[in-house]
Amino acid sequence: MSAYWIPRLQIAVNKIALKVLRFPVPETIRGVDSSLTLCDEMAAAGLQRVLLVTDGPLMRTGIPERLAAHLQQRGVAVEVFSDVEPDPDYALVLRGVERLNAFNAQAVLAVGGGSPIDCAKSMLMCQATGKHPSKLTGVWLYHLPRPYGLPLYAIPTTSGTGSEATVAAIVSDRAEQTKYSIIDPKLLPIKVALDPALTVGLPPAVTAATGMDALTHAVEAYIGTMGTKETNAWALRATELIGANLSKAYALGTDIEARANMQEAALLAGLAFTRATVGYVHAIAHQLGGLYHVPHGLANAIVMPHVLDFCKSACTDRLADLARAAGIAVAGANDTENADRMIAWIREMNAAMGIPSTVSALREADFDRIIAHALTEAHGTYAIPRYMQKDDARGILRQLLATN
Ligand SMILES: [Fe+2]
Repeated sequence: MSAYWIPRLQIAVNKIALKVLRFPVPETIRGVDSSLTLCDEMAAAGLQRVLLVTDGPLMRTGIPERLAAHLQQRGVAVEVFSDVEPDPDYALVLRGVERLNAFNAQAVLAVGGGSPIDCAKSMLMCQATGKHPSKLTGVWLYHLPRPYGLPLYAIPTTSGTGSEATVAAIVSDRAEQTKYSIIDPKLLPIKVALDPALTVGLPPAVTAATGMDALTHAVEAYIGTMGTKETNAWALRATELIGANLSKAYALGTDIEARANMQEAALLAGLAFTRATVGYVHAIAHQLGGLYHVPHGLANAIVMPHVLDFCKSACTDRLADLARAAGIAVAGANDTENADRMIAWIREMNAAMGIPSTVSALREADFDRIIAHALTEAHGTYAIPRYMQKDDARGILRQLLATN
């Protein structure tokens, strides 16, 4: 069987699995101070010992401390694990499991962007299985009996990864300088709070990169071949919200309505891509993150227009739908023109938000390795609309070189 047909067979199997397995949607509470309401609900659920998982930069905002104090006032003992770093790796996850066990926690509250939430997911899966995180990567449906492990609660403080809504955790393999996914419906948080007040302090550059990550999720879920009526609706709505709110949130961080809408967009895009998968943008961006530590959202934003140029011939109508959802379609234009408009708009958004068009750390000497990892990742997992050969990927990487 050819390299072309194996991924298609895999996607066919995934589609059947998706229909049979109905991923749950996490219970979500919304609005200013909903993060405190979530803490109230955790206390009301009878939890007495909670491990709060977060990172250093967030600790400096005082947000985790306030949430911990709120829980403690309600009789819940809280231990804070704030060691999470960008792109959590195996060693960090194992340190987190040690803290979980030492504290004898009954639940985990993840507070932060994708890294703390993904780290918490990986920790819980490791603790429940007793396995090293490297043994959990890949699709492990039915890996654990239900019910399993400790419950996860999540309070996202960026609007991008959608990790609060996904059945995946990204974990970095430092030795291989790449990232892997742990995929299992049981990774999903049981309850989520979208509190827009927690995102008003995000610096504009982070708002931009994380917002473009959410857009990438919506776009890749929508142009791929695994979309359902439900995921398509989520992806279009997310694109609509991003089109109407990302520039506002970037320009004025305290715009609470724009912040709330970006949180909703990230959640919806997360719900969409965790079912319909992502695509080559993520496959390439993961390598740029693993090899050069380019922040995930930034890498996606830079790579996205190039991958869409490549995919366009296979999904022109879909890209035109996205342009209409984003509110940037040209009245009376045909699908090809609006698909071009969508790709041009992404480039314009990047430029307006200070996102570069190249990757300064990228080296031609790394191309073979990046291409091998990216195509293996995409062809083994993602419902890509157009099959990419090595030379296509090489052409995209050349355009990302800073010498351009
Ligand atoms: Fe992403």
